[in-house]
Amino acid sequence: MSIPLSSVILGLLCLLCVLNDQGILIKMVAANTNSHVHIVYLGERQHDNPRLITDSHHDLLATIVGSKSLASELMVYSYRHGFSGFAAKLTEAQAKKFAELPDVIRVIPNSLHKLQTTRSWDFLGLSPHSPSSYILHNSNMGDGVIIGVLDTGIWPESESFNEVGLGPVPSQWKGVCESGEKFNATLHCNRKIIGARWFNDGLLAEYGKPLNTSESTEFMSPRDAHGHGTHTSSTAAGSFVTNVSYKGLGQGTIRGGAPNARLAIYKVCWNVLGGQCSAADMLKAFDEAIHDGVDVLSLSIGSSLPLFSDVDERDGIATGSFHAVARGITVVCAAANDGPSAQTVKNTAPWIITVAASTMDRAFPTSITLGNNKTFLGQSMFTGPEIGFTSLIYPESEGLDPTATGVCESLSLSKTMVTGKVVLCFTSRGRRLAVTTASAAVKLAGGVGLIVAKNPSDGLYPCDDDFPCIEVDYEIGTRIVFYIRSTRYPLVKLNLPKTIVGKPLLAKVAYFSSRGPNSVAPAILKPDIAAPGVNILASTSPLDLFADGGYAMHSGTSMSTPHVSGIVALLKALHRNWSPAAIRSALVTTAWRNGPSGLPIFAEGSPQKLANPFDFGGGIVNPNAAANPGLVYDMGKADYMHYLCAMGYNNSAISRLTGHSTTCPIKRPSILDINLPSITIPSLRNSITVTRTVTNVGAPKSVYDATIDPPLGTVVSVKPNPLVFNSTVNILTFEITISTTHQMNTGYYFGSLTWTDTVHAVRIPLSVRTEFLQHFADDY
Ligand SMILES: *[C@@H]1O[C@H](CO)[C@@H](O)[C@H](O)[C@H]1NC(C)=O
Ligand SMILES: *[C@@H]1O[C@H](CO)[C@@H](O)[C@H](O)[C@H]1NC(C)=O
Ligand SMILES: *[C@@H]1O[C@H](CO)[C@@H](O)[C@H](O)[C@H]1NC(C)=O
Ligand SMILES: *[C@@H]1O[C@H](CO)[C@@H](O)[C@H](O)[C@H]1NC(C)=O
Ligand SMILES: *[C@@H]1O[C@H](CO)[C@@H](O)[C@H](O)[C@H]1NC(C)=O
Ligand SMILES: *[C@@H]1O[C@H](CO)[C@@H](O)[C@H](O)[C@H]1NC(C)=O
Repeated sequence: MSIPLSSVILGLLCLLCVLNDQGILIKMVAANTNSHVHIVYLGERQHDNPRLITDSHHDLLATIVGSKSLASELMVYSYRHGFSGFAAKLTEAQAKKFAELPDVIRVIPNSLHKLQTTRSWDFLGLSPHSPSSYILHNSNMGDGVIIGVLDTGIWPESESFNEVGLGPVPSQWKGVCESGEKFNATLHCNRKIIGARWFNDGLLAEYGKPLNTSESTEFMSPRDAHGHGTHTSSTAAGSFVTNVSYKGLGQGTIRGGAPNARLAIYKVCWNVLGGQCSAADMLKAFDEAIHDGVDVLSLSIGSSLPLFSDVDERDGIATGSFHAVARGITVVCAAANDGPSAQTVKNTAPWIITVAASTMDRAFPTSITLGNNKTFLGQSMFTGPEIGFTSLIYPESEGLDPTATGVCESLSLSKTMVTGKVVLCFTSRGRRLAVTTASAAVKLAGGVGLIVAKNPSDGLYPCDDDFPCIEVDYEIGTRIVFYIRSTRYPLVKLNLPKTIVGKPLLAKVAYFSSRGPNSVAPAILKPDIAAPGVNILASTSPLDLFADGGYAMHSGTSMSTPHVSGIVALLKALHRNWSPAAIRSALVTTAWRNGPSGLPIFAEGSPQKLANPFDFGGGIVNPNAAANPGLVYDMGKADYMHYLCAMGYNNSAISRLTGHSTTCPIKRPSILDINLPSITIPSLRNSITVTRTVTNVGAPKSVYDATIDPPLGTVVSVKPNPLVFNSTVNILTFEITISTTHQMNTGYYFGSLTWTDTVHAVRIPLSVRTEFLQHFADDY
């Protein structure tokens, strides 16, 4: 499909999107009341009949608020499948009374979470996975697997959700498709969208009912007015749609990671204040999804608060995902978009797969040839005609025009200076309107083209497609300035962009992608993995402010998360009995630490540096290798208990999270021994020994040898080595000893431990910081 886009519409959209970024989409007035939504959490279900559980919730509520009818009025949700509890509007005094009841595990005040999108406007885009891939075909493209998406709903008419070629709805499915405003279950659910529901009682109980839907800015139904949920859903499991392009560039087929997987839509995020999702609503979605029979849950959502712990009562995602993972459902969450600063990663619980965002490749590179025949690569969406050798100027104030400046945002150009020429300018950081402003100024002054130098990760608006405008990074921009200053008659030729598909160039961890170390538990490596999350072309809602013919390019860990969810669906289809931890291990141990082309992976930031595990966990996801990892570092509920005990949470805090009584061993287990596919030692004094256990999922008879790349300043040894598996021994435990070679405080250094047989290389990242301050060292 060709997507015409006039500059007028683009300008209008941009204005709106600035408004949207500031959250002025819908104004809602908070209900004037002293009651707020609280979640009364009762832990594991006491019996199997959901009706009886709900009745008991109403009874319990009535005992505190005084009457059954008042209880019905105040009740927001009853949670009764994945765990037991309810959400209700309560005063502080009532909440306190509940907290004192013996059956109540804890009372959680409702909180808000937000969508993890930034909208970068570089126009790139391609499907990240080759259609001839091993994993796609051997998994029958994820057929039979159900991906639950907690997001802003779905635009069901999008071609991405066609059911062509799909078999019947998987028999494990027990969920429903609910009709609502502009959403007819009979018409809009099919064999692709097998379920669709919406949850906003928790949000509306705080903000007041009803939601103002007068201008189609929201629908009381699963219909997506925002676009985020349609984008993430189509990225995870969109069907094939042929002949999608942007003005003929990148023409081809778009599809999700698992094109035959099915979607269960749980709309929990609403077009309020720029996209908000309440903990009460998300917990309800987890509760229903566990009941409905989903295999994977995808959440491109993070908390709005800076820091949550795994047992933090406000974190609906940590609690809901604990119960989902305990039932074998893999939960994939965004690492958040607060990078590149350290310690910004969210969704850090060890049972979650936490996803960072990488770039993939430049799909539309455009070459610039200077008069000295030097050629540089930029990118553009301009489709012609080519600009042959033309005068090039960099408007520096001295000597040219007193009002001229080389800064794109404040270009002020005289006709005599610019007519018939190509202009170079530099953007200052973070100015989103720079490109639009600059190309308008150059056009107005009679210029014929523009070269914009920008930080590659700035979320700029793109060049207009009807004006020759090429984006380059600061370094190339600076080299062009040197050329201009070196010659009397600087010339430039602007070539047409080429579409490159499937040949990734340098991949980088995106500037915005949140980074480790994990501030809640520094010994638990987060993020786990990176996936493409910059300039992702996918379906969207036509009401998306950036929509263009039903498709949009978006960037964020919101976009990388459903890539991993789709890949998890493929792995599930191949290996039905793998636990969420085994799946995570397969992803982490096989990830690309160098790009697919063998080039190193960098992490954007200032300065840019080689990516380390705090940027991308194991690396960039490599789906075909993950299908056949050889060994996995598996974990179950007992390991998560081990983690919680090791973290020093007391028995009552752990019981409150897990919903059943838990007793930690008297001697606290070491957090370093949690069976993660990574080893992170935040404060190494002299020497430490940690253990790991691997399960052989490859050929029964195999021998694995260790290859160690020790972090700088350490010596690492492993025993036993080799690991010998046979038909009776398929699980082996080994010890890794790490010692410092110098006695001083340093930052983190990184290395790896790789087990190899003749087929597999099972690599885990090692991250070590030596620390000689007594009071820090005591913690580990
Ligand atoms: C693909 O889309 C382009 C532009 O809309 C159109 O000209 C062309 O005919 C389409 N090709 C096919 C095979 O449908
Ligand atoms: C939903 O669609 C079906 C099939 O077209 C139609 O029979 C039914 O009347 C519709 N329901 C509503 C509420 O519009
Ligand atoms: C709903 O929003 C529209 C447009 O913003 C406004 O004109 C209308 O008054 C609002 N309705 C209510 C009930 O607030
Ligand atoms: C640039 O290349 C062209 C053709 O290859 C050649 O004719 C020209 O002399 C070269 N110019 C410079 C400055 O090297
Ligand atoms: C357990 O820890 C919580 C805080 O996490 C604290 O409020 C509570 O008093 C502790 N309980 C016991 C028995 O130590
Ligand atoms: C597998 O290895 C174990 C330990 O070396 C050994 O005791 C056992 O006999 C072996 N089993 C087979 C079937 O070779």
